[in-house]
Amino acid sequence: MAKFRKIGVLTSGGDAPGMNAAVRAVTLSALARGVEVVGIYKGYTGLISGELKELTARDVANIGGISGTILYSDRCLEFKTEEGMAKAVKSCHDNQIDGIVAIGGDGTFRGATDLSSHGIPTIGIPGTIDNDITSTDYSIGFDTAMNTVVRAADALRDTCESHARCEVIEVMGRDAGYIALECGMAVGAVGIAVKELPFDTEACIAKILDQRAKGQRSFIVMVSEGMGGEFGEELTKKINEAGIDTRFIRLAHMVRGGAPTLRDRYTATRMGDYAVDLILQGKSDLVVCEQDNKLVEVDIQYALILDRMYKNKLKDGDLDKFTAEQVESMKAFCAAKHEKFADIMEAANTISKN
Ligand code: F6P
Repeated sequence: MAKFRKIGVLTSGGDAPGMNAAVRAVTLSALARGVEVVGIYKGYTGLISGELKELTARDVANIGGISGTILYSDRCLEFKTEEGMAKAVKSCHDNQIDGIVAIGGDGTFRGATDLSSHGIPTIGIPGTIDNDITSTDYSIGFDTAMNTVVRAADALRDTCESHARCEVIEVMGRDAGYIALECGMAVGAVGIAVKELPFDTEACIAKILDQRAKGQRSFIVMVSEGMGGEFGEELTKKINEAGIDTRFIRLAHMVRGGAPTLRDRYTATRMGDYAVDLILQGKSDLVVCEQDNKLVEVDIQYALILDRMYKNKLKDGDLDKFTAEQVESMKAFCAAKHEKFADIMEAANTISKN
């Protein structure tokens, strides 16, 4: 096994609170094992252009509580081309980078698996507020984003209560409804609209009217970004037309900021250390995942196809390289995850019935 003298760390895709804690952990864990670390700026863009800086323990000492990413982030189109990949690999060789830890979402992992297949050992760490990486129960940033939403919803509840209003709150999550689902349940939303499950607008309005008749003054409806287009605005219009004074708010990017919570700092630190452990064992093309409260390593190619299966986005031939047993295990994993999501929604709906 080649001796690792220097590894690179990068953050890519949408930033997520806790990414800095992961960068800190990767750096300190590698330095503690006698391995140098370079920070690669702006994700794969900086790898291609050579925007690198050696990271010392002092550089990362106090960044765990800061949101965003000190390494900056980008979504790099050039990296998806053969020329871009060739430049990235050359940059690794020119700068004696023996392996890379890449922190981000599914786009980041597609890049990581490509780098691995071009001979650069790469390990992924899930970092996205969306929590939409199927192979892991948890991705860095989710908890902080949810706490931000809950604080915003509490503030909106205060004013809704004073004015006897309803607030329709749209939250990020891209196509995934985890933020809307869990926050909606936590703040006692009267309705939660996510792309993954059917939403009955008429039933939601009837529920609001019924509860208003029983004396309830304020209402929150949580809508996931994945509902698309103007869904939130249109829903607001319909509730207004039913006679309930209603406002709409899109929390958008504010949900991605704010000091990372304990959960994000802690998980990021554990995952960062774990990733360094894997790479120094000579492993590659893996993503660190949390499953049933344990950290495990999952083959990135497997994780990406599992993700497509869960999201109903499988392409012809995607499953060809897996054994029948692996495919069955993927199906069971996805089914259990869908079931868990539906169970939470059912509980939220039951609780908000009266
Ligand atoms: O993936 C994280 C995320 O914040 C999604 O929730 C959202 O759809 C998207 O990124 C927004 O991307 P951008 O920052 O490029 O507008």
